[in-house]
Amino acid sequence: MAEMPVLQGKGISMKFGEALVLDSVDVAFHPGKVYGVVGENGAGKSTLMRILSGFLQPISGEIYVDGKQTVLNPYKAKELGIVLVPQELNLVEPLRVYENIFLGDEPTGRFLIDKKKMIQEASEIIKNLDVDIDPMELVERLSTGKKQMVEIMKALSRSVEILIMDEPTASLSEDETQKLFETVKKLKTSGITVIFVSHRLKEIVQIADELVVLRDGKKVYQGALSDFSETQIAEMMVGRKMDEIYPEKVGWEEKNVLEVRDLNSADGKIRDVSFTLKNGEVLGFYGLVGAGRTELMQTIIGVRKLSSGEIFVDGKPAIIRSVKEAMKNGIVYLPEERKLAGLILNFEVFKNTSLMTLDKISKIVTKPKVEVERFEFYRKSFDIRVRGPYQITHTLSGGNQQKLVLSKLVETGAKIFIMDEPTRGVDINSRYQIYKIISELASKKMASFIVVSSDLPEIIGLCNRVIVMRNGTIVGEAVGEEVEETNLIYMALGVSESQEKFKE
Ligand SMILES: Nc1ncnc2c1ncn2[C@@H]1O[C@H](COP(=O)(O)OP(=O)(O)O)[C@@H](O)[C@H]1O
Ligand SMILES: [Mg+2]
Repeated sequence: MAEMPVLQGKGISMKFGEALVLDSVDVAFHPGKVYGVVGENGAGKSTLMRILSGFLQPISGEIYVDGKQTVLNPYKAKELGIVLVPQELNLVEPLRVYENIFLGDEPTGRFLIDKKKMIQEASEIIKNLDVDIDPMELVERLSTGKKQMVEIMKALSRSVEILIMDEPTASLSEDETQKLFETVKKLKTSGITVIFVSHRLKEIVQIADELVVLRDGKKVYQGALSDFSETQIAEMMVGRKMDEIYPEKVGWEEKNVLEVRDLNSADGKIRDVSFTLKNGEVLGFYGLVGAGRTELMQTIIGVRKLSSGEIFVDGKPAIIRSVKEAMKNGIVYLPEERKLAGLILNFEVFKNTSLMTLDKISKIVTKPKVEVERFEFYRKSFDIRVRGPYQITHTLSGGNQQKLVLSKLVETGAKIFIMDEPTRGVDINSRYQIYKIISELASKKMASFIVVSSDLPEIIGLCNRVIVMRNGTIVGEAVGEEVEETNLIYMALGVSESQEKFKE
């Protein structure tokens, strides 16, 4: 018979309002093992961890500790040695490191809280973790990574049997992460159960013995990690094969929506570029870093000065000297760096959707009602994962921020979208959503797209035609079957396939 689990959940379900966020989850954790819990944003990981540590009561289901059914609450959990390092930092900023470590748990001397003992024990914990933190330092002075480490020390100062860490490495440096992993290994050898939530699959593969996968509130896998590749784990998380992530490629109409003729930028970075974009096309631009793709797009939208050349929109000559003039011509640009995408991060999310169209709306009404409605429309159709329209933008994940940027661009009614590395740093499900949005708008001929990407699978999966650039100019084009890895790489490098074969 298998050894009894130290902690087990049977049929755990949870609702927030009407939303079922955990659906009959069965999980079991054994002593001396490290469990990696993965799932996309919103899969229910944090909710499950809060239930397993007594901070939330499930609507149904049972929890067993050492085989005995138990109703957990935070005190009971503490007594049983179940310690949660929550996803959100929970420190008292104006207090010192050692004070935070022992907060609510102070070892008492005869009459007074034993300060000396606390400092000594804090130093001990810090030494074991091998990090450079002064126990006397004020927490508010620490970097976010170090604060996270203090949060972990707080957990380690307790008598812990089961350590649950919810995305502990999110703000840790590579070095700090490795030190944390060393500690996890030590804990494991001393028989402690470690439950480690992360969406960084590399870390999971490195640290975990067993894997728990949640998807949309359901447990879809628990078992040995052994042979899974990162791709396979990602596939379990999203519930589809990676090669199904790209929607079916769409055709285009012969009509040119954009034509660029003999374009040269004033700074010499772009030379003699000519190409056309067809109606409803998803046109790829591939090249190595520094090939001039971003510079070309900047020249087209008027951010970079051109010295000669012509641009036609819908067959008519267009003068574009600024982003505003580009927008007047129905062209919008999604920059390579999300930081530059013009989201106002301390705004409520709904305000960002209508950021570029405020005039239009304020002419009709002055209340934010319309803005909220517009946001809700995109929230639904783009699957933007937020708690509500008033959530502050910077609290969204990268992928959801990117979908918000898209809502803002689509809301302008633009017909031509130039997207520079649209899915860089974006989680897998948001990527899927972004591809779907592109494909839908293109197939309905509501918009045409230029996709600049260094991600070959992405450009191959998405585009029927790919233009390749090198040294500030176009060096090749691939259509249909030619849109294929070696072909694109050879063009980008400037070696022909026959030359390459000759060398061998
Ligand atoms: N306190 C709460 N009130 C309402 N909804 C919540 C609350 N906490 C989480 N949710 C919702 O429950 C779902 C699961 O969230 P969570 O457990 O935080 O997922 P994960 O940690 O896997 O990203 C999400 O849709 C989230 O918006
Ligand atoms: Mg979470």
